[in-house]
Amino acid sequence: MGDYTNMSAYYDDIMTSGYYDYAGIVDSLLTHQPFANALEIGCGTGLILEELSTRQPRLALTGIDLTEAMLVIAQRRLQKHHNITLLQGDVIDFQLAQQYELAFSYGGVWYFVIDGDKEPFMVSHLAADADNHHGLARLAAHVRPGGTLLLGIQGPHHNYERVISNGMRYSQTIAPSADGFTKNYYLTDGPNTVMAQTLQYRTYSFADACRMLSAQGFDYAPQQGRKHRFLAFTKH
Ligand SMILES: C[S@@+](CC[C@H](N)C(=O)[O-])C[C@H]1O[C@@H](n2cnc3c(N)ncnc32)[C@H](O)[C@@H]1O
Repeated sequence: MGDYTNMSAYYDDIMTSGYYDYAGIVDSLLTHQPFANALEIGCGTGLILEELSTRQPRLALTGIDLTEAMLVIAQRRLQKHHNITLLQGDVIDFQLAQQYELAFSYGGVWYFVIDGDKEPFMVSHLAADADNHHGLARLAAHVRPGGTLLLGIQGPHHNYERVISNGMRYSQTIAPSADGFTKNYYLTDGPNTVMAQTLQYRTYSFADACRMLSAQGFDYAPQQGRKHRFLAFTKH
């Protein structure tokens, strides 16, 4: 389960210290226009929704996230964005009243790792195989036929540490596990550990991921060029 409670208070400082490039992520989302509404799965503290809404205030946006503490920060950040609805929920059993033209997830729940010319593989915050099938089925129920699903692309994960914008030291360690890997996140302030979070990730080969997505109605839609931040799938 991808619960981010421990990291929530420090999430923005870590992510905006170069971990994710939010302007680039939103540039990439906007190449998929036109769309009038969009759903973000695992919206966290709302950093993508804020950038997207600032650039395109007429979009109707919904963000869903499992971690209440992340959503508290998102609510505060997005309070002036009346075009955004935030909901607490788990992707494996969420139920909304509408279907969306675009759904996307960047680092939340599912993403692809692309390492040079190696075969991409999918990473999931959902450790149990059955949860991945249920989650993608729930997601598929919320994307209209002909709509688009975008799952973020990340580089290979490795152990590293760096000083972030608030002066604290962020570090992460990765260890392989039976079906994926375990990732430990730490934040230290001098000798004190102020945050420690351990998450279990499941991985799928590209072929297995495409089969699982296709079974829920999402067909891989390759895009030209190499600068994309998302892999695209079309809902049939
Ligand atoms: C790395 S953060 C990404 C947040 C945001 N997309 C961003 O780019 O800053 C991952 C988020 O996914 C959420 N998440 C993990 N598992 C989830 C699930 N099963 N259902 C909904 N959200 C989930 C976590 O709570 C966390 O906020």
